[in-house]
Amino acid sequence: MSFQPQRVVVERGHRSGVPIVVAVHSTVLGQAIGGCRLAAYPDWRDGLDDALRLSAAMTGKAALAGLPHGGGKTVIALPAGHILTPARRRDALLDAGDVIAGLHGTYATGPDVGTGPADMVTIGERTQHVFCRPAEAGGSGDSSPHTAAGVLAALRAVAVERFGSPDLTGRSFAVLGLGRVGTHVLRLLASAGAAHLVAADVDPSRREVAAEYGATWTDPHDCLTAEVDVLIPAALGGLLTPDTVPRLSCSAIAGPANNQLDVLSTADLLHERGILWAPDVVVSAGGIVHAVAAELHHETEAQISARIDGIGDTLAKILHAARETSSTPAAAATRLAEFLASERTASMLAA
Ligand code: PHE
Repeated sequence: MSFQPQRVVVERGHRSGVPIVVAVHSTVLGQAIGGCRLAAYPDWRDGLDDALRLSAAMTGKAALAGLPHGGGKTVIALPAGHILTPARRRDALLDAGDVIAGLHGTYATGPDVGTGPADMVTIGERTQHVFCRPAEAGGSGDSSPHTAAGVLAALRAVAVERFGSPDLTGRSFAVLGLGRVGTHVLRLLASAGAAHLVAADVDPSRREVAAEYGATWTDPHDCLTAEVDVLIPAALGGLLTPDTVPRLSCSAIAGPANNQLDVLSTADLLHERGILWAPDVVVSAGGIVHAVAAELHHETEAQISARIDGIGDTLAKILHAARETSSTPAAAATRLAEFLASERTASMLAA
């Protein structure tokens, strides 16, 4: 997916004074969607870069999930070390809401790293184009259990490809990041009968969560390099690099973190090491699938679960295509996403 966006708005929030970036990567398939990230950056331009890369990934994610949507992303780029008081945080979210309102429905937001359903209510004071408000506020609520369900479907597809069976019993997993999605993934793995679980988070208080599900707690570095069947990146992206890949001891990688590869060519390094990497744009789609199907198409939970299970089928097809063409899963996913989200395909399908 090319990073070149369709439209980018960068604005200093008039209430908060904080830089707000909204990147609309593509609306070829429909309204752009993508969460609102609230994070600290060394410079606001780093936040802009993040928004550009993440919005391009959202285009691939929506297209590969079969949604009639394009990709976008909001980044509220806090200066490094800047602590927001609750009042300032609210101001920053309202500012983001104003920028989104100015895009007149070409883009809708949702939760992302640093924001949650309650924040969507605040953004929703300024624009109706917001997913995942809590049910009592008229939204589909927290998307993280659904993202985790999609990860499980993806893990079963990886297990078929790598170990010849979708059964996760007896397999070992390392979950890197026990935030909202990572915690649900750990819970689902424990109830699926995984034999050995390792978990880590930069926040030491998450250790109790690891213990609750019988996972061995490690520091994030040891989790990354743990000797397990599957490594599950569930925190920030950029963790797979020419520096970290030689140190990995897993057989496969599949997790919900967005933009796990520092650059696309790192997929080749993983391939050369014989590590199967399931493209994050496919693995992480459960949240948007649920939000869009529930809020825009009013599907039943059973219909939505079937769609989320479909993530496993899509991944299986991509892994198969990669094998058939002797390419990496990353290249196969990019090819398919570019085909699906191209002007030509879109107009062919509309005709
Ligand atoms: N953080 C979600 C993702 O990356 C964004 C999102 C979820 C957007 C739900 C809309 C609805 O997929």
